[in-house]
Amino acid sequence: MEKKIRIFQTPYLLAENMAQLFAGLVRDESDRKASFSVALSGGSTPELLYSVLGDHYSASIPWKDVNIFWGDERCVPPDDRESNFGMTYRALLRKINIPENNIHRIRGEEDPQRESQRYASEMRETIPERGGLPVFDLFILGLGEDGHTASIFPGETGPVFPEKICETVINPYTGQKRITLTGQVINNAARVIFLVTGKKKAAVLRDIIKQLPACQTYPAAFIVPAAGELNWFVDEEAASLL
Ligand code: 6PG
Repeated sequence: MEKKIRIFQTPYLLAENMAQLFAGLVRDESDRKASFSVALSGGSTPELLYSVLGDHYSASIPWKDVNIFWGDERCVPPDDRESNFGMTYRALLRKINIPENNIHRIRGEEDPQRESQRYASEMRETIPERGGLPVFDLFILGLGEDGHTASIFPGETGPVFPEKICETVINPYTGQKRITLTGQVINNAARVIFLVTGKKKAAVLRDIIKQLPACQTYPAAFIVPAAGELNWFVDEEAASLL
């Protein structure tokens, strides 16, 4: 799998370029009269992208053709400051004209086990499948310093949960319950893009890109789309050890 890495001078330039790419991908699908399904990530770097999209692309993207999902969610109500949906709503959703039915929120306030089963069904009902798994047109991910991505943390049963498409987990550092899509869904996407910024991510990014031994404990290192593209959008600080 060829890893396409694009390095940007600043996080804002990364977000602007990612927004341009996102707009082009949606328009291409829209021209094919197809809907575009995207799974969003939490985290500060993805948040900057959502702000750029909300502030500058509210009119130029056919949001009616976009189905928004989340790759993971904290098990909190949507108005909690920890909520990935709440962050996305403030940065993007409240600024665009998108049909309510196109917003597929993980209900963090519900019982995690029941909600992960419900969400798996919602994905299957909404997104075309290949090999029995939903195929996202785009899966946006962040990267933790420990190599986690979405809410797949090091040391979980099997680095990418081979059985299920949606799983409940506990953040090992905070004890917070979370719901996460699993590696097999991520790897089934047509395109996966990691957004990584900051010096703190330089070592983990180097380990993964250079496939150093340490990356064997990083769930993000197991994100290798079977038939899709894997792209890394990183800033110069995160790329400083490449
Ligand atoms: C979350 C994300 C998580 C995040 C990374 C990177 O819910 O927090 O799913 O995987 O993307 O922790 O976050 P930063 O970009 O803020 O470092």
